[in-house]
Amino acid sequence: MCGIIGVCASPGRRLNTGEMVFKGLLRLEYRGYDSAGVASIESGVIKVLKGKGRIADLEKKLGFSRVGGSVVIGHTRWATHGAPSDENAHPHTDCTGSIAIVHNGIIENYRELREALAKKGHVFKSETDTEVVAHLIEEYLKTGLAPYEAFKKAISSIRGSYAILAVFSSQPDTIFFAKKDSPLVIGLGEGFNMVASDIPALLEYTRRVITVRDMWVGYITGDSVFIEELGKGPVEPSSYVRVVEWDLESASKGGYQHFMIKEIHEQPRALAETFYGALSDLSLGEAAKILLDARRIYITAAGTSYHASLHFALSMGRISKILVTPFIASEYESYAPTAREGDVLIAVSQSGETMDTLKAVRAFKERGARVIAVSNVVDSAIPRESDLPLYTRAGPEIGVAATKTFTTQTLLLSLLALEYGLLRGELLKSEYEELRKELSKSSELASKTISWSEGVARKIAEFLRFKNSIYYLSRGIGLPTAMEGALKIKEIAYIHAEAYPAGESKHGPIALVEKDFPVVFVVPRDEYYEKLILGNIQEMKARGAFIIGVAPEDSKLLDLFDICIKTPASNWLTTPITHTPPLQLVAYYTSVYKGFDPDKPRNLAKTVTVE
Ligand code: AGP
Repeated sequence: MCGIIGVCASPGRRLNTGEMVFKGLLRLEYRGYDSAGVASIESGVIKVLKGKGRIADLEKKLGFSRVGGSVVIGHTRWATHGAPSDENAHPHTDCTGSIAIVHNGIIENYRELREALAKKGHVFKSETDTEVVAHLIEEYLKTGLAPYEAFKKAISSIRGSYAILAVFSSQPDTIFFAKKDSPLVIGLGEGFNMVASDIPALLEYTRRVITVRDMWVGYITGDSVFIEELGKGPVEPSSYVRVVEWDLESASKGGYQHFMIKEIHEQPRALAETFYGALSDLSLGEAAKILLDARRIYITAAGTSYHASLHFALSMGRISKILVTPFIASEYESYAPTAREGDVLIAVSQSGETMDTLKAVRAFKERGARVIAVSNVVDSAIPRESDLPLYTRAGPEIGVAATKTFTTQTLLLSLLALEYGLLRGELLKSEYEELRKELSKSSELASKTISWSEGVARKIAEFLRFKNSIYYLSRGIGLPTAMEGALKIKEIAYIHAEAYPAGESKHGPIALVEKDFPVVFVVPRDEYYEKLILGNIQEMKARGAFIIGVAPEDSKLLDLFDICIKTPASNWLTTPITHTPPLQLVAYYTSVYKGFDPDKPRNLAKTVTVE
């Protein structure tokens, strides 16, 4: 998704604002983009540099970091309206070139606005929805309004989602901002202030931030911040300042070739943070109580977070014999009408900003349901709009493919399932303690499974790099992990991969299997499922499939695999923690061997803020 950034320096403070924005753009790269640009105000004139392509190449060609002035804004674009091109790259300007805009989101009524403005003589240079904002402001300026008033009036005229920054050549020390549904954070510095789509873009310069709320508009200068809630009045910025715990080190590669491999290796530490964080926080107990009072429990998410949600639903069924309804967030329209007061929705989102999940939250709240959020980003939209936020504490995840945030989500949700089981009386204290003891070893288990699988994962990747299609099969509690393994290899190695319950093969998919067709079996440590999977392996072998196993070190099936990644013996509940890192490594090495950049998969964005 698009990323935006802006820097304002105080008069007299000689800061390299161009370089600050350029570095911020590099830190926004992980969100996914196809073009980028900056706008500065130099000697009272707006200068725009922009184009299609990688930021590093554009920097060489255009020199983003060399722009000057007290105010610079920048943008990474992920195309929605209009193909990736130099013209469609942001910033966009009005007819006079005295207003420049960057925007993340979608302006739903841009067609009507564009038509009306064109009739008044405005000439558009791009196909984007964003450009209308610059022309709208221009139109309001013509009526005699001051820049901020014209900006606010334009914001009141647009519908949709937006985080917008605007600069005016007539006010060369100020950046105006507005936000609805797309993320925006203000960073407070000494002699400068910044504003950006997310925290990593600010971290090199400050850790004091204000998370901008929906419907807030305002402006920053080098030494002031003004905020108001549109139509309601001023907001006191100091009441919203917080210091983020992440540092720059945790948001940079730290010697690894890619963020993804760094983040895979960070899992032991992240899981320890999740476990001990949950221990020291009363929220988990509160969440279990909310669930205990629930008439019905739903859980929703997208992509990887959905797989963690499935693990929770299966665990709740097994531990407490209750039905939790999992659904994919973008399908909320089919589920929200069934919700009512007394129901609880758990919304899982690493970023806390995924629009589909946010929409599901809002729809359930409208029906009177309570919402528990599980997120990795403090103060992001979904936790903010929920009744109770739970945080995974995995640290910043920059790789587009989720890794450590998945295993930490499953750990936190498993802890919640245990708390619930105990409260409900479904688990004896001894059973609870036994399961919890195993979860307390998550960090150690992840560490073992990563070191055991590094070498084998590379061998498997050597084989898979030449394949066009793979099945990922499992049963019961292993299924979410199989689904996650398939998603990873699709996302970063561009191989068609399908995950489904192994028992389904005979109902259709096995028709595709021929000699050397790769089939990955995720075998949980569970006697019942192991027996069933044995039969599924045999039926695949009989058709010449190449069988890849991810199975506990003491599994009875080890001899059946053509190649196998052994995982440390644990219990069924920790399956995602022991079995997912090997599949992440397989996907990572397959992507690297195929010559792709696993951190920046094509067509994908880290945070999907459109429906
Ligand atoms: C995971 O590898 C993907 N990038 C994607 O499926 C992601 O999990 C999904 O977009 C949900 O994001 P969220 O957890 O931030 O809501």
